[in-house]
Amino acid sequence: MRSVVAVSGRVEETPSTVTLRFPFAAAADPGQFVMLWIPGDDELPMSLSYTDGPSKGVTVKAMGSTSRRVLDIAPGTAIGIRGPYGNAFDLSPRRVLIVAGGSGAAVLAPAADRARALGAEVTVALGATRAPELLFRDRFRAMDARVEVATDDGSEGAKGFVTAVAARLLGESPFDAVWTCGPEVMMRKVIEAARPRGVPVFCSVERHMKCALGMCDACALGPYHVCEDGPVFSAEHLARTPDFGVFHRDSSGRRVPF
Ligand SMILES: Cc1cc2nc3c(=O)[nH]c(=O)nc-3n(C[C@H](O)[C@H](O)[C@H](O)COP(=O)(O)OP(=O)(O)OC[C@H]3O[C@@H](n4cnc5c(N)ncnc54)[C@H](O)[C@@H]3O)c2cc1C
Ligand code: FES
Repeated sequence: MRSVVAVSGRVEETPSTVTLRFPFAAAADPGQFVMLWIPGDDELPMSLSYTDGPSKGVTVKAMGSTSRRVLDIAPGTAIGIRGPYGNAFDLSPRRVLIVAGGSGAAVLAPAADRARALGAEVTVALGATRAPELLFRDRFRAMDARVEVATDDGSEGAKGFVTAVAARLLGESPFDAVWTCGPEVMMRKVIEAARPRGVPVFCSVERHMKCALGMCDACALGPYHVCEDGPVFSAEHLARTPDFGVFHRDSSGRRVPF
C-alpha cells in the first residue's frame, strides 16, 4: 500500500527521538517497516513502532539531515508512506529476552506488546547513552515486562553497555528466544552471549535502502537483501554474512567499515 497521509500525532519520546502517528489501514506485524517519504527531501526505511489498528506509528532518531527534518514535522503535515515491507518476529516463544540499543527499541516495543498479549514473559535489557535517551522504558514497564537498564554514563541503571546486562540476564534465567535491535556490533555481542546457552537470537538489521523491493541491491548483506529477506534475521543466517557488524554499505553501495 502507498499513500500520502497527514500526520495525526507527534510525541517527543527523548531529546533526539520523536514518534509520528498517521492513518494507514494496511495490516502489519511487529518487525515490519515502511518507507517514509518526506516531501522535498528523501525516503527513509522506518520500522513500525505501532503496528496495530488503523493508526500506525514510526519512531525516528535524529541521525543525518533527513532524520533531523523528521523531528520538525508537526501534526497535519503530509508525509508519504509505502509498505509494510519485510518479515516479522516469530511471536511463538514463551520467555523472551529483548535487547534494545538506542532507537532499536522502536521495532522491539510492538513485538513485546504482541508477545505480552499472547501471554509470553518478556524481559527487556534497554540501553542508551544517558537516562533521557532511554526509549520506551515506560512503555515496556506499562506492559508488565521486567525492564533492566544500562546507560553509557551511568545516569540510570548499570553503567556501561547493555550487552553486559543481557549477558547477566542470560546467565540468571532460561529464555526461549532473544530479540535484538541496535548497532550491529552490539547485536554481534548479544549473539556471542546467547550462543553457549543455546538460546536462538533474532536480529532486526538496519541497512541503507532505496527500493525496499529487492531490486536495487542497496541493502545487500552477503547472500541476502535486508528489505526482502529481513529485516529480521536469525543468528544462523547472519553467520553466513561475514559483513554483519564489520562492513556496511554507503549510499553509493561502497562497502565501508563500521
Ligand atoms: C529496516 C530498517 C528499519 C529502520 N528503523 C528505524 C527506526 O525505527 N528508527 C530510526 O530512527 N531509524 C531507523 N532506521 C534507520 C533509518 O532508515 C536511517 O538510516 C536513519 O534515520 C539515518 O538516516 P539519515 O538519512 O538521516 O542519515 P544519514 O545521512 O544516512 O547518516 C548520518 C550519519 O548517521 C549514521 N547512521 C545512519 N543510520 C544509522 C543507524 N541506524 N545507526 C547508527 N548510525 C547511523 C551514518 O553512518 C552517518 O554517519 C531503519 C533502517 C532500516 C533499514
Ligand atoms: S533496498 Fe533495493 S534491494 Fe533492498
